[in-house]
Amino acid sequence: MTKNTLLSCLAAILCVAAGISVLPLRAGTPDEHSIIPRPASIHFTSGAFTHSDLSGRMRVDIVPDISHSGVPGSYILRITSDSVIVSAGDSSGAFYAMQTLRALRDPATGIVPCVEIEDAPRFQWRGFMQDVSRHFFSIEYLKRQIDAMARLKLNVLHLHLTDAAGWRVEIDRYPLLTSFAAWREGALWKDWWFGDRKYLPEGTSGAYGGYYTKEELRELVQYAAERYITIVPEIEMPSHSEEVLTAYPELSCTGEPYRHSDFCIGKEETFEFLENVLTEIMEIFPSQYIHIGGDEASKKAWAECPLCQARMKAEGLADVDELQSYMIRRIGSFLEAHGRTPVGWDEILQGGADSAAVVMAWRSVEEGERAASGGNRTVMTPGAYCYFDTYQDDPSTLPTAMGGYLPLSEVYSFEPVPSGLSPDEAAKIIGVQANLWCEYVPTEPHAELMIYPRLYALAEVAWSPASGRDYEDFRRRALALCAQMEAEGYNVFDLAREVGDRPAAQSPVEHLARGCKVIYNAPYNSTYAAGGDTALTDGLHGGWTYGDGRWQGFISRGRLDVTVDLGQVQDVRSVELDFMQVCGPEVFLPAEVVISASSDGNEFQELRRITREVVRDDRVTFVTGGWYTGGQSVSARYIRVQARSGSYGGWVFTDEIVVR
Ligand code: ACM
Ligand code: ZN
Repeated sequence: MTKNTLLSCLAAILCVAAGISVLPLRAGTPDEHSIIPRPASIHFTSGAFTHSDLSGRMRVDIVPDISHSGVPGSYILRITSDSVIVSAGDSSGAFYAMQTLRALRDPATGIVPCVEIEDAPRFQWRGFMQDVSRHFFSIEYLKRQIDAMARLKLNVLHLHLTDAAGWRVEIDRYPLLTSFAAWREGALWKDWWFGDRKYLPEGTSGAYGGYYTKEELRELVQYAAERYITIVPEIEMPSHSEEVLTAYPELSCTGEPYRHSDFCIGKEETFEFLENVLTEIMEIFPSQYIHIGGDEASKKAWAECPLCQARMKAEGLADVDELQSYMIRRIGSFLEAHGRTPVGWDEILQGGADSAAVVMAWRSVEEGERAASGGNRTVMTPGAYCYFDTYQDDPSTLPTAMGGYLPLSEVYSFEPVPSGLSPDEAAKIIGVQANLWCEYVPTEPHAELMIYPRLYALAEVAWSPASGRDYEDFRRRALALCAQMEAEGYNVFDLAREVGDRPAAQSPVEHLARGCKVIYNAPYNSTYAAGGDTALTDGLHGGWTYGDGRWQGFISRGRLDVTVDLGQVQDVRSVELDFMQVCGPEVFLPAEVVISASSDGNEFQELRRITREVVRDDRVTFVTGGWYTGGQSVSARYIRVQARSGSYGGWVFTDEIVVR
């Protein structure tokens, strides 16, 4: 084969791999392209490539020193009226050039505008995590998401393969993991979790679950690799392991099934089990990175377990955090001895982390900053920007979600490198990742609704230069890609009908109490302080989530009790305030609200008492209530509002005491 024939073959293969001949994308018109993620540099020239023999007129060169960023995947794409010329730093760069070409090409005519693009990824880790434990997702579904990831130039699919709700990967040595721990009573996670949390033998009538065979996973790994995507498997430890510790109860501290989420770290059998499992995992997944969980361990049983205590004594470990750290380091060393790199959620820093481990910062941006400044390579995936189990619009228009509110614009606003880091520390931030936890995501169409278009924004954060972000331009491109993916059968959120944040939160409200002092007869909770002592009179209503820094949370004895000082006696005609309910995180409407007024701060006159039966449900609910004069105003300087939760206890949240 001559060099030219070889090049046209390569071009033809790339076209097929990129889906160009099968599914051409919407036209990019000069200066208004629809490429996501936005290329580092794009310059339209006049004219268009109109020939039908695209792969015959394409030339692809691999030019190893082309990469400016040092991150694999860079390319230059030059389209003239007669030719398509790709120079790529490596084969992944050529693949990404094809994705860009696909996005530029008019689907109806095949016409491509003449353009010069120089492009390179900002981060090496551009990830998406799919939870397949809480609900089980088919291989076909995973392949469809891999296709979409490839188009978005994402390159890591992290599979959360194990959790209490079900073990999802075949392990020859421990058959109960898939014949028992992969099956449960209750197809919906919430029915199982809020019910008896029973596991069932495979084949039991009504058992819900599933697992992937090794063969299926090897094929999936290959499918992903052909699209320059690495599958990073996650095996949870030391916690989130109820399913393992019920199938193999001898690996827990007391040996009792259905009692533990954490492995016993005092037992050598635990390490033998985990190393055997990881050995089989490494045989399936060639990924450099193996995720070993590390999040949310209760650590309670360890404090009382003689074997855990003996381990702590023998190893000179000061506390249970150091005991966890011992386990994570020991398993990390095992992986390193096999040439792999451990990855863990940011709690692996507790008690000290192995400097070679990659930290996945989920609890906050600050945790990522701490990890990077401490020298660990870090993937940023903070809940505030990267958790797709949240509502992306008005909750009343969407299926029940875990909670929260993360609109497309907020994902797009994420800057993964905190400004306080030095250049060396900043270089430790190796990427970003979106996570789809699936407690409240039972079906494949529902999962796609949660992912798209938010994954477009994550992809642009991960790939495109930090400078030059423009949300309006991005949203226009996102609308085009939504339409395209919908035409291909994906269940995409209807971005064109997005409502945005809660209408009340969109503009400040003027009222008599704005800026007035609030006396707290019972304290607010410091985690949900919102603006602190001024939050309830700052003129700002809260949005769709209590976590947005505008809602103030009260949990101390389940009550809110505040007095607003208007500064002088005034004529008051109404006092009103909003409450919200989202039952998952135990946020409830109050069972009783009492509003009273006083001119001297001592003698209060009750204006209104509102009682309500609090009912658990799946919805996110907002109510506005208060006292409204039927005609006559009252003279008052002090307004006291008391609210208490009902029999469920939990939180009371309010955002503003509006006095008129
Ligand atoms: C996590 O969300 N527990 C990592
Ligand atoms: Zn123990």
